[in-house]
Amino acid sequence: MRRSNLGKFLLLCCIFSPVAPEIVAPNALELRITTNVTHEIPSTLFGYMWEDINHRSGFNIGKTRPSLLLTVKTTAPMAVSTNRAFQGVIPGTQNALYAWQSYNGARLSVTSKTEGVSDALPNSLEVKIPKAVSGPIGFENTGYWGIKVQEGWAYKGSLYAKSDSYNGPITVSLKSARGTTFASQTLQGISNSWKKFTFEFEPKVSAPNDNNVFSVVLDGKATAGKTLHFGMFSLFPPTFKGRENGMRIDLAQLFVDTDPGVFRFGGNNVEGSSWDGRWKWNETIGRLEDRPGRIGDWNYPNTDGVGLMEYLNWAEDIGAELILGIWAGISIQNYSDFATWPVVPEADLQPYVDDVLNEIEFIVGDTSTQWGSVRASLGREEPYALRLIEIGNEDNFQADSYAAYRWQAFVDAISAKFPQMEFIATTLPSTALNPPYKRIDFHQYNSPSWFKANAFFFDSYPRNQTKWFIGEYAVTSTNDSNALGTLDQGRLQYPTLLGSVAEAAFMTGLERNSDVVFAAAYAPSFQNIHEFQWTPDIVTFDASRLARSTSYYMFSVNKGTHSLATSPTPSNDTAPLFWSASYNNESDVVFLKVANTGEQDLVANIFLDFPSTGHIHAVTLATPPLTAVFGQFNTSNTLEEPDLIIPVPFSAAIPILDKFNYTFPATSVTVLTVQSPKLVV
Ligand SMILES: *[C@@H]1O[C@H](CO)[C@@H](O)[C@H](O)[C@H]1NC(C)=O
Ligand SMILES: *[C@@H]1O[C@H](CO)[C@@H](O)[C@H](O)[C@H]1NC(C)=O
Ligand SMILES: *[C@@H]1O[C@H](CO)[C@@H](O)[C@H](O)[C@H]1NC(C)=O
Ligand SMILES: *[C@@H]1O[C@H](CO)[C@@H](O)[C@H](O)[C@H]1NC(C)=O
Ligand SMILES: *[C@@H]1O[C@H](CO)[C@@H](O)[C@H](O)[C@H]1NC(C)=O
Ligand SMILES: *[C@@H]1O[C@H](CO)[C@@H](O)[C@H](O)[C@H]1NC(C)=O
Ligand SMILES: *[C@@H]1O[C@H](CO)[C@@H](O)[C@H](O)[C@H]1NC(C)=O
Ligand SMILES: *[C@@H]1O[C@H](CO)[C@@H](O)[C@H](O)[C@H]1NC(C)=O
Ligand SMILES: *[C@@H]1O[C@H](CO)[C@@H](O)[C@H](O)[C@H]1NC(C)=O
Repeated sequence: MRRSNLGKFLLLCCIFSPVAPEIVAPNALELRITTNVTHEIPSTLFGYMWEDINHRSGFNIGKTRPSLLLTVKTTAPMAVSTNRAFQGVIPGTQNALYAWQSYNGARLSVTSKTEGVSDALPNSLEVKIPKAVSGPIGFENTGYWGIKVQEGWAYKGSLYAKSDSYNGPITVSLKSARGTTFASQTLQGISNSWKKFTFEFEPKVSAPNDNNVFSVVLDGKATAGKTLHFGMFSLFPPTFKGRENGMRIDLAQLFVDTDPGVFRFGGNNVEGSSWDGRWKWNETIGRLEDRPGRIGDWNYPNTDGVGLMEYLNWAEDIGAELILGIWAGISIQNYSDFATWPVVPEADLQPYVDDVLNEIEFIVGDTSTQWGSVRASLGREEPYALRLIEIGNEDNFQADSYAAYRWQAFVDAISAKFPQMEFIATTLPSTALNPPYKRIDFHQYNSPSWFKANAFFFDSYPRNQTKWFIGEYAVTSTNDSNALGTLDQGRLQYPTLLGSVAEAAFMTGLERNSDVVFAAAYAPSFQNIHEFQWTPDIVTFDASRLARSTSYYMFSVNKGTHSLATSPTPSNDTAPLFWSASYNNESDVVFLKVANTGEQDLVANIFLDFPSTGHIHAVTLATPPLTAVFGQFNTSNTLEEPDLIIPVPFSAAIPILDKFNYTFPATSVTVLTVQSPKLVV
C-alpha cells in the first residue's frame, strides 16, 4: 500500500520535474521521510548508568552482572588513590599496604592500634624508621597504576600525620619512579596528635610518562629509630568544574560531549553482601574523614569519596536527569546461589523504608526538613531535581519477595510522602506487581544477532502507558549461546564496530518507539585498563590516556524532539538497513539514523515530504577506506589505537531538494541531517 503510494509519487515527480533520472539508484530501497509526527521523543532517551565496580578474582561473573565505572579507582582521579585511607583492609596484612611502598628502608604497616584520624577511619599507616639510616627515607604511593604529572596543573593534596617522637619537617613530592622530582613541598608542625596538612604541587615540567609516585620523605638522621603515623591522604589534579572530590576532566568531558539525557546510579553495588554491608547513603556524605567506605559488591574497598552528593552534582554537571536506584531489601551473598541471598522479611522492612525516605528527603527536602537541612549544612541549600526512583536492581533474581511486599512497601511509603515521584520496577516485565508498575528497567547483554532480532520488539508493543528503560545494554560477545563467557568463547575485550552497529540497529528501534522506551544506557561506561571486572566497556583509560569505543559514538547528540514516520517503516524485510527518523523543533533539522548491519554497501533512495535547503550532511562510523582495517568489522578502538574508527563527516549539495540517493557503507552507522522548514508538530 505504502509502496504503491510511493510509486505514484515517483512517477509524478519524474514526469513534472526536470529530474536527472540517475539520482534514483536502480533496485535500491526507497525510503520516504514524512512530516507525520508519531510522538515526542523524551529528553531522557539516551544516557549513562554508573556504579562502582572493580575486579574480584575468582568471582563468578554471572549473567547480568551489570557493571560500571570504577568510580573511585578511576573516574574520581585521585592521583594518590588506591587505598588512600586504608578503608576495608585488615591491619597488619601485606594487602593493607596495596599501592604503598617503602623508600630507602622505612618499615611500613597498617595499624588500628593507635587512634585513627576519625571514628570512621580507624586505620592508619605506621612508619618505623630504622636506627641506623642516613639520607632521605619514607614511603610512596604509586597512584592508580601511575600518576600523570602535567606542567601547568595545580595538584591539591592533603594528609594527616602525627608522631610521639618527631616534630621536624616532612617533604612531600611528585617524583618519577627513577627519582626525578617534579614538585615538592615541606610540611612543618607535626606533633603527637593528628593534624591535617594541605599542600599544592605545580610541576614546572611534565613527566615523560605515568611511571610516577607521590612521595613522603623524612631526614633519616633526624628520624632514626622513630615512629610516625599517617592517614587520609588525598591528591587531586584539577577536576571537572573545579569540584572538590571531582572527576578527571578529560573523562568527565567525554560524558558531557554526548549530551546525556539520563544518569542512573545505584545498580549492583548498592546491594552489599549483607544488609549491613549495603551502600549506606548517609555514610557517603560530608567530610571525607567521616566516610568509612565499605567493601563493595565487586569485593574491593570503596572509599566512597564519590558519595551521594558527588553523584547528584555530577548528574547536574552533565545536564542529565537523575534516576536514583535505592536499596530495596536484598543483598547478594553468593551470586551463583540465589537461594542464599539475604532478603529482608516483610516484618523487618520498615527501618529500611524509612532510611530511603530520609535519603529522598536529603535530596529534595527543603531546608526546613531534617535531612534537607543537613544537605544545606553541606553547602547545598537548593533541593536537587528528582522524579525517577528505581526500586532496587535486577530484582528478577528475587522476584517473589519483590512482588509479595518489597516493591509495594517502598512505592507506597515514598508516594505518600513524595507524591511527585515516579517508580521504575526491576523485575521482569512479566512479573505482576501491586501497585502495577508503569516503568520497568530491562537489562540486556547479548550477541549482535540478539540486538538485530529485537530491533523491532517495541514497534508492536502495546501503547498501554507502560514505559521502558533499557537501563543496561551492550553487545558483549559474538557467541549467540553464551553472551558472558570468556574471550576464547567469543566474549569481546572492547566494543567492536560489528557489535556497535548491531546496538545501533536496536537503538533505532528504541528511538522510533520512544513513546514506550523513555530512556536507555549502554553499560558499563568506564574501564581502567589496569584492573577491570567486565568487558567490553564504552571508554577505556589509564592514568593519562583514554579511548572512546565504537559504541561511544552513538545517538545522544543529534537529538530529535519528535519522531517522524517513514515509509516503509523498517522491518525484517528492510534489513540489513535499520533506521529511525526524527525532527528537532528548535533547529528545524530532520535526522535519519541508519544502521547497515550487512557486509555490503547499500544504496537507498531517500525521498523527503518537505523541501530541504539543497544540502545534506552526514556523519558515518565505518571502517575507513584505504586503511588496513577496511572491511574488517571486528575492529576496536584501543588505547594504542584510539582513533581507528571515528565518525567521519560528509556534506553534499543535492540537485533536487526532496530526493537524493545515499550509500550506507558495509557495517556502518550513519546520521543524515537535512535542514527542513518548520514542520507542524
Ligand atoms: C546517486 O545520485 C547521484 C546524483 O546526485 C548520481 O550521480 C549517482 O549516479 C546516483 N547513484 C546511483 C547508485 O544511482
Ligand atoms: C546511617 O543510617 C543507618 C540506617 O539508618 C544507620 O544504621 C547508621 O548508623 C547511619 N550511619 C551513621 C554514620 O550515622
Ligand atoms: C556459591 O554458590 C555456588 C552454587 O551453589 C557454590 O558452588 C559455591 O561454592 C558458592 N560459593 C560460596 C563462596 O559459597
Ligand atoms: C525479525 O527476525 C528475527 C530473527 O531473524 C526474529 O527473531 C524476529 O522476531 C523478527 N521480528 C519481527 C518483527 O518479525
Ligand atoms: C502493557 O502491555 C504489556 C505487554 O502485554 C504488559 O506486560 C503490561 O503489563 C501492560 N501494561 C499495562 C499498564 O497494562
Ligand atoms: C560459545 O560458548 C560455548 C560455551 O557456552 C562454547 O562451547 C562454544 O565453543 C562457544 N562458541 C564459540 C564460537 O566460541
Ligand atoms: C501520514 O499521515 C497521513 C494523514 O494522517 C496518513 O494518510 C499517512 O498514511 C501517514 N503516513 C505514514 C507513513 O504514516
Ligand atoms: C518543541 O516541542 C516541544 C514539545 O512539543 C515544545 O514544548 C516546544 O515549545 C517546542 N519548541 C519550539 C521552538 O517549537
Ligand atoms: C578480525 O577478523 C579477521 C578476519 O576474520 C581476523 O584475521 C582478525 O584476527 C580478527 N581480529 C580480531 C581483533 O578479532
